[in-house]
Amino acid sequence: MPRSKIAGIGKYVPERVVTNQDLTQYMDTDDQWILERTGIKERRYAHRTEETTTTMAVEAAKIAIERAGTTAQEIDFIVFATLSPDYYFPGCGVMLQRAMKMKEVGALDVRNQCSGFLYAISVADQFIKSGMYKNILVVGSEKHSFGLDFSTRGRNISVIFGDGAGAVVLQPTEKTDQGILSTHLHSDGESAEILAMYNPGTHANHWGEKNYADFDEAPIAQMFMSHKMIDKAQNFPFMDGQSVFKKAVVKFPEVIMEALLANGYQSTDLNMLIPHQANLRISQFVQQKLKLTEDQVYNNIQQYGNTTAASVPIALCEAWEKGKIKEGDLVCLAAFGSGFTWASALLKW
Ligand code: ACO
Repeated sequence: MPRSKIAGIGKYVPERVVTNQDLTQYMDTDDQWILERTGIKERRYAHRTEETTTTMAVEAAKIAIERAGTTAQEIDFIVFATLSPDYYFPGCGVMLQRAMKMKEVGALDVRNQCSGFLYAISVADQFIKSGMYKNILVVGSEKHSFGLDFSTRGRNISVIFGDGAGAVVLQPTEKTDQGILSTHLHSDGESAEILAMYNPGTHANHWGEKNYADFDEAPIAQMFMSHKMIDKAQNFPFMDGQSVFKKAVVKFPEVIMEALLANGYQSTDLNMLIPHQANLRISQFVQQKLKLTEDQVYNNIQQYGNTTAASVPIALCEAWEKGKIKEGDLVCLAAFGSGFTWASALLKW
């Protein structure tokens, strides 16, 4: 059975740089608070009208496809991870297929937030291994800036997120010392509401007395989105940051070790860990727990903020472009996020 390898990788971040200082114009925050708690100095925001989650994905995909030595017309499957799609439906996969004038190939959207790219890679890996497809485009892209609360009310979340996209092309390889060795996927929905956007949605408060939904009277059915929901900021993400932190620092190391041990490796064997760029403090905690050196972990949240499904491919691409990942290196990708869902992939570059 062939393995799949990353044949090409690309990233795109919008031109517009938004510093912590810039955010102080809109909310009561300061550079020191953001830097100390998250490590973030600046992030990128997409052009308000000219760029979307899909257009950024197209830019990253073009580079990945070219580096893989193939063309958009040769791609035989698309897996697109995002929590900030151009439309509630249809998904971004078909928007990408249209924008890149691809053949009428399958397009799958993945809704796994911060671990979306890892889930997407895992799905694509299975299709390559089974022989069903030979040239899969896997994308993570987010336009968070369109949906954040830029008032002081939303400051604990809004300062964290940024926009961008990353993409890889997976192809089969017969080489025994190259490619994706394994992927590991997990979820625990018990805390689904502690990092979530409550509305619009169809839950109608079904999930208990959590004081997050508020509905207007509607003639026959419940309202999907109402003025009251907007007044209560339920169209913005909600996060209990401390609970997320506590779970993340347990599950990140666990899923990284799971990938290493499944393949007979120790953390000392790792050449590079690319953690989802959730928060620099989380990455540093994971580094300490696994006794990794600075050189074994790549972080770029300082420049881009948390770009959710895009953060792993952007960081992987940047690390590779800087020459920090070389042929034969043992690389672990890992992510944790809303759901909760968490995942890892171990690969030989
Ligand atoms: N600027 C200034 N003050 C702020 C800001 C801000 N941007 N945000 C919150 N504060 C204030 C709060 O109002 C509060 O003030 P108070 O003490 O007067 O009430 C104080 O700072 C502390 O607020 P907390 O929310 O308790 O801050 P905490 O120390 O927990 O830090 C943070 C918040 C950074 C989100 C932290 O909980 C964290 O790192 N959590 C991990 C979650 C995470 O990284 N999520 C990323 C997205 S999810 C993912 O990718 C996995």
